[in-house]
Order: sequence, then C-alpha cells, then structure tokens
Amino acid sequence: MAMVSPSMLSADFGNLQRDTEMLNASQCDWLHLDVMDGVFVPNLTFGFPMMEAVARHARKPLDVHLMIVQPEKFIERLSDVGAYVVSVHYEACPHLHRVLQTIRSKGMKAGVVLNPATPVSVLEDIIEDVDLVMLMSVNPGYGGQKFIPHTVEKVKKLRKLLNETGSRALIEIDGGVNRSTGRMLIEAGADVLVAGTAVFGAANPVEEIAHLKNL
Ligand code: DX5
Ligand code: ZN
Repeated sequence: MAMVSPSMLSADFGNLQRDTEMLNASQCDWLHLDVMDGVFVPNLTFGFPMMEAVARHARKPLDVHLMIVQPEKFIERLSDVGAYVVSVHYEACPHLHRVLQTIRSKGMKAGVVLNPATPVSVLEDIIEDVDLVMLMSVNPGYGGQKFIPHTVEKVKKLRKLLNETGSRALIEIDGGVNRSTGRMLIEAGADVLVAGTAVFGAANPVEEIAHLKNL
C-alpha cells in the first residue's frame, strides 16, 4: 500500500484548521509542508507561524520540504515545531553530509530532494546517510504543474541503487501526482506519493486519498 503525503500548499489557508482536521480523519500518512524562499525557487510560501499552526492541529507526522538556500539555518527550529522528516535539496547544499547529520542529530529523519535535471547517481556517496529520497517530478516552485514522465525511469534507477547498497531509504515523489501517474510510480518502486492538486482539487479529498493509497 502506498504512503500518501497531501501537500498543504493546495489547502485553503483561510481554513487551515478545518483542512488539517480533514486530513487527520483521512487515511493519509503524513502532511507535506512546502517552504519556499523566493531565492532557490521563484516563489514564496510560508514559514514558522504557519507550520506551527498546522502542527497544533495535526495528528499525522509532518513531512517538511525545504525549497530554500542555507536550510541548515532552520533545522533546530524545525525540530521544535515537531517535524518528522526534513528534506533539503541536493542543489541547495554544498555541504550536504553535514546538513543531513544535523537533521538526524535533532532526532528527525533526513531527506534529500533531487530536481528533475539532477541524476540519481549523485546520491552514490551519501545514500547511507539518507532516510528518504524525494524525486521532483515537476520543477519546484508551484503546485498544479504537469508531471514529467522521465521521473518513472528515475524511480527505477533509484530503487536499483537502494537495493545494491542495502539502503532502506524511502522513495517519495513530488509534483503532478494523481491516480494515473501515481500508479506508474508505485509500479516503478516509489513508496510515498505527495499530492496537492489531486487531493484538494477533488470533490471528496478523503476519498481521493483512499484511492491514492490503494493504487
Ligand atoms: C512543488 C511542491 C509540491 C506541490 C505539489 O514545488 O514541492 O509539493 O505542492 O503540488 P501538485 O500535487 O499540485 O503538483
Ligand atoms: Zn513539495
């Protein structure tokens, strides 16, 4: 059964408590929080006050996706918020090993995110230090974009790398995930599906989450 992490970026920010409680009552596994800084990606989203508001109502683990430069600045505060997994971009971290160690030292799971143009092979020398690998299946910055089909091949390559190295890291996919792309991703070896538009744009988000879990 797939794990599902609905992206709060597509929630109604005027009704955050309502939407968080809706997700609490659903079969989703995590809540995905997209932090953007307008530097690493061409958009701004939200920071700590918003994540704290979600955390107050959430009864599911928080899956924080940092699309920011210098993510190391915020790791301690993310552990105070109660994040379960913190994922940083490979492209934003010249000292990736140190950042991952810091995340783990604060008791959180350490994730690495690869942009669509970044090959899976860059993970070869860091895979032991990673609890989760997230592959972007759109260019990060916005919800509602079209899925990049090549991601399916990347999932297969990543699954092979994890098998060869004995890594138990989870494979999470972010961007343009819906029932049809989700099915291809799960067949290719993905573990966790992020879905914003597919969940919050559905007539019945709770039912849509159930569909995504049972692909
Ligand atoms: C994009 C974000 C995604 C986004 C996914 O940069 O990282 O998490 O919210 O949204 P959908 O599912 O609409 O592509
Ligand atoms: Zn995301």
